[in-house]
Amino acid sequence: MSDHYSPVVEHLAEPETAREEGRRKMDWALQHMPILTELRESFVADQPLAGEVIAMAMHVEAKTANLVELLADGGAEVAITGCNPLSTHDDVSAALDAHENITSYAVRGVDDEDYYDAMHAVVAHDPTITVDDGMDMVKLVHEEYPELIDSIVGGAEETTTGVHRLRAMDADGELQYPVFAVNDTPMKRLFDNIHGTGESSLATIAMTTNLSFAGKNVVVGGYGYCGKGVAKKAAGQNANVIVTEVEPRRALEAHMEGYDVLPMDEAAATGDVFITTTGNRDVITKEHFEVMQDGVLLANAGHFDVEVNLEDLEELAVDQFEARDGVEAYEMADGRELNVIAEGRLVNLAAPIALGHPVEVMDQSFGIQAVCVRELVENSNDYAAGVHDVPDELDREVAEIKLAAEGVAYDSLSETQREYMDSWEHGT
Ligand code: NAI
Repeated sequence: MSDHYSPVVEHLAEPETAREEGRRKMDWALQHMPILTELRESFVADQPLAGEVIAMAMHVEAKTANLVELLADGGAEVAITGCNPLSTHDDVSAALDAHENITSYAVRGVDDEDYYDAMHAVVAHDPTITVDDGMDMVKLVHEEYPELIDSIVGGAEETTTGVHRLRAMDADGELQYPVFAVNDTPMKRLFDNIHGTGESSLATIAMTTNLSFAGKNVVVGGYGYCGKGVAKKAAGQNANVIVTEVEPRRALEAHMEGYDVLPMDEAAATGDVFITTTGNRDVITKEHFEVMQDGVLLANAGHFDVEVNLEDLEELAVDQFEARDGVEAYEMADGRELNVIAEGRLVNLAAPIALGHPVEVMDQSFGIQAVCVRELVENSNDYAAGVHDVPDELDREVAEIKLAAEGVAYDSLSETQREYMDSWEHGT
């Protein structure tokens, strides 16, 4: 382990040029982030995070960078690294690092050792708050820096897989500080997971391959929030969508939505494009590769790179080569070629041209992150160690800012209606 891993600028040949390009990307994104813009006013004026040190492991690209700057402008010292070795934009990382309250260790394409060294370097700042996408920072603090736990007021977790791991840790009695399940709140999950993952995964696959979805059999592994988005947007691009599931109600939902529902064993033989969104492992394995058609595309939109079993694929392959930037072709003994996009890592962030979710949805997700961090500082005594839902009033606060920015007016309950809804006494 090393807590001497250098910030990003020491890894770049031309840091000044990188900073300028990163800043340009951040400025573009910020124009479409009314929630972060509105929160910035009060964060700058009130300095709610003064004195806090925030350790972050997130996808370091332009939208995240605007959240990081918001937290720093709100008074915090922030140290950040990536939560995936392929999703960092070095120029954005460099632009962030130029902020006097921010140190960024995120570098694209690092090996496992450097990836974890950067994580240790972040924790060496002695955080009082952690912000994660996948829970790696919480895990590192608990396993290797337990002495920090007493001074940590809490954390916030961005994604389904991270929340899933945190709940497992909490159930084992191991989670020793409060963490908000940002992923699970409506303003995040109903937009980011559904629309964000749907749009950006399909757009990234299309741009990386220069191929169309129209008329193709697109197999979506998992019909959760992300799977629903991918299926809906693929159908909207005239694909024939096939869903695989292990949960009976989700399988039924997909069926009632009009999609074909099949076991992966059957879908494997008919799919042209496969997109996994389960948060689980080994969704596509050896027996599936053996029956797939020549030329299929394999992509993963789940958090970790374990949904498409690449070890199985490597074992079956007689040859392997880069077919396009971001596309690795595996040639089978019978001559079929199976194409893996972005090394089976979450495709919308790890492919070479990937930009992640659209800016608008990340504005919502990161608006929730920002108000959760503020809440941890302002009301830390209200939260015991464990996983916490985002308080509904915070979710509403962010929704209201967004609706106002979009110029969308909506109704409110009259006093009579409120009384009626709160009463059990009215009957027929
Ligand atoms: P979810 O829990 O709503 O959905 C997952 C679905 O997969 C469930 O319906 C589950 O029954 C199903 N499933 C589990 N194992 C399966 C298997 N072996 N075969 C078929 N289906 C299976 O979770 P959500 O929110 O859809 O997230 C899914 C994954 O995507 C997580 O890893 C999450 O962290 C990640 N994620 C990725 C994003 C991205 O930008 N690519 C954005 C948000 C989440």
